Amino acid sequence: MPLPKAELHLHIEGTLEPELAFRLAARNGVELPYPDTDALREAYRFKDLQSFLNLYYELMAVLRTEQDFEELADAYLARAAAQGVRHAEIFFDPQAHIARGVPMATVVDGLWRALGRSVENHGISTRLIMCFLRDESADSALETLEAARPHLGRITGIGLDSAEVGHPPAKFREVYAAAADLGLRRVAHAGEEGPPAYITEALDVLGVERVDHGLRCMEDPDLVARLVRERIPLTLCPLSNVRLRAVDVLAEHPLPAMLDAGLLCTVNSDDPAYFGGYADDNFRAVADTLGLSEERLRELARNSFLASFLEDDEELRARYLAEVAAYEFG
Ligand code: ADE
Ligand code: ZN
Repeated sequence: MPLPKAELHLHIEGTLEPELAFRLAARNGVELPYPDTDALREAYRFKDLQSFLNLYYELMAVLRTEQDFEELADAYLARAAAQGVRHAEIFFDPQAHIARGVPMATVVDGLWRALGRSVENHGISTRLIMCFLRDESADSALETLEAARPHLGRITGIGLDSAEVGHPPAKFREVYAAAADLGLRRVAHAGEEGPPAYITEALDVLGVERVDHGLRCMEDPDLVARLVRERIPLTLCPLSNVRLRAVDVLAEHPLPAMLDAGLLCTVNSDDPAYFGGYADDNFRAVADTLGLSEERLRELARNSFLASFLEDDEELRARYLAEVAAYEFG
C-alpha cells in the first residue's frame, strides 16, 4: 500500500491519457493531428513550459460534454486512489474550454459528476480550484470569475497558471481581491520558470496562501527565510520539473535542500499524463533518485495534509494525519 497523501497540484486536463483522448475524439467527431497513441506519445518531448502548453491546449479539443469531463475526472481519481491519494485539490482551466464554446456549467457539472461520488467510489475527498490563464487578460479573468458565480458552492479556491514569464502576478490583483471577498482560497503558480520576485508578488499582491512550484525561491535566501517563517506551503512537482527542463535531471532537484532549509514542501504530479507519473510515482522517483529517508517521505505526506484546504473539515484532516503517522513502510 502506498504512503497516504494529498495531491494539491494537479491539472485535471493534464490527466488526459492518449487512449482516453482518442476515445473522446472518436465519440465527438474531433480529428486529432496524430495517427495513433504512439505518435501522440512521441510528441511528449518538451523543451520548456510553452512547448508543453501548446500540446496541452491542443488536446483539450476532445473535451466537449459533461460526460467527457466526468470520465476524465473519474479516470484520474481511480489512478490516484491506487497511488495512495486520499485527498485531491484539483485545478481546472475554464477559459480554455469557454474559448472553444464549452460553457462553464458543462465543465463544472461534468467534473462534479465524478467528484461528488469520489469518496464513495474512490475513497478520495476532493476540492476544486479554478485557475485563470495568466497569458489571457485581467478582464478575461474577471469575466471568468463572474461566469463561475452560480457554481461557487463547488469551487473552493482560485489559482493562476499557463505561461509564466512576462505575466507577473500583479496583473491579476483585482480578480484575486474579488475572489477573496467571495471567500475563495487563493493559490498561484510562481517561480516555475518565472523569477523569485513573482513569488514575492504572489504573496504580497495576490495574498496567496500556497505557492504552486515555487522552485526558484532557492535563488533568494531572504525569500526562503520568509517562506519558512510564514509557513507558506510549496507544491513541488519533481517529474514535471524534469520534463519541462526547470531542472536538468532529477538528481539535481533542490527538494532535499528545500526540506533542509525548513520549507513546507509537498510533492505532486502536475500533469501526470504528460510527465510520466502520478502522485506516488513522483514520491518513488524522489525517494530513489534523491535518497530521501522514510522519515522525509513521511514528512512530505504529513505536509500535504497540513497544506490542504481542509479547514472546513479538521476532523478529516486529523484522520488523514493519523493514517500518515501509522503508515508502515514495506
Ligand atoms: N498548466 C498546466 N500545467 C502547468 C504548469 N506546470 N505550469 C503552468 N501552467 C500549467
Ligand atoms: Zn501546474
